[in-house]
Amino acid sequence: MTYAFGNADAEAANRHRHLAAMFDDFSTARIAGLGGVTNKRCLELGAGGGSMAARLAALGGEVLATDLDVRHLPRDGGFGVLEHDLQREPLPPGPWDLIHARLLLLHLPDREAVLKRLAAALAPGGVLLIEDFYSTIRMGVLRAPTPADAAVYNAYHDTLVDRVLPARGNDGTWAGRAHAAMLDAGLTGVTTEVHARSWPGGSPGALLQAANIVQQRPAFRDAGMSDADIDRVLALMNDPEMVIRAHLLYSTAGFA
Ligand SMILES: C[S@@+](CC[C@H](N)C(=O)[O-])C[C@H]1O[C@@H](n2cnc3c(N)ncnc32)[C@H](O)[C@@H]1O
Repeated sequence: MTYAFGNADAEAANRHRHLAAMFDDFSTARIAGLGGVTNKRCLELGAGGGSMAARLAALGGEVLATDLDVRHLPRDGGFGVLEHDLQREPLPPGPWDLIHARLLLLHLPDREAVLKRLAAALAPGGVLLIEDFYSTIRMGVLRAPTPADAAVYNAYHDTLVDRVLPARGNDGTWAGRAHAAMLDAGLTGVTTEVHARSWPGGSPGALLQAANIVQQRPAFRDAGMSDADIDRVLALMNDPEMVIRAHLLYSTAGFA
């Protein structure tokens, strides 16, 4: 099963930039609330563009950032970099005080088994933080230029989560099972917080949708969307008159 949004694509750098703008403040605050990272060994999995790895390093963590494709990870960011397939390879030797994976496990077919391995790699008192979209819950259209625009956006959402992503091994309901999976793995003090907010066209939350559509345009066509509808959604994602509530980010943490 091939990851849907590979880093070799021209849109990947845009995606990493938009994700950082959407979620780095939230993830950083969440990690602070879980005890912080100063002088702790941190594993940032599926690190993408490395923005969270850089933040954890700046906060005093000793950070190793891994990714299937490390081309967007700076080598001078104050953290280590390792090319690593979480699905197929053993974890880098721990134990780890913090393991963070944002928008990664939802893409991995063996996510439940992966979570067990992550839990087992924690140091006593260590924290596992998994953050994923609950993407089968529809993104909200908070305002649209016309009712037809709202309808075409909803049709895009349904094509994305019912057809395009599942064909690449993505499970849009996994985020709702992570809490139970952590308890089943023996973690304690498990908590889930949910992040969501409004994003007008042209802002990071809308431009993330545009990056995803551009990268997967052939798949949207194959799933039955017309080029006219794809182009309309792309235009809406750049139109400040359109406002969406993007996917809900479930942020689930547990302690070893
Ligand atoms: C949606 S991006 C999220 C990037 C970053 N975690 C963030 O939230 O900003 C998913 C990242 O996971 C990486 N990835 C996908 N499959 C992977 C695997 N099997 N092992 C490690 N990384 C993987 C991708 O290359 C990509 O950089």
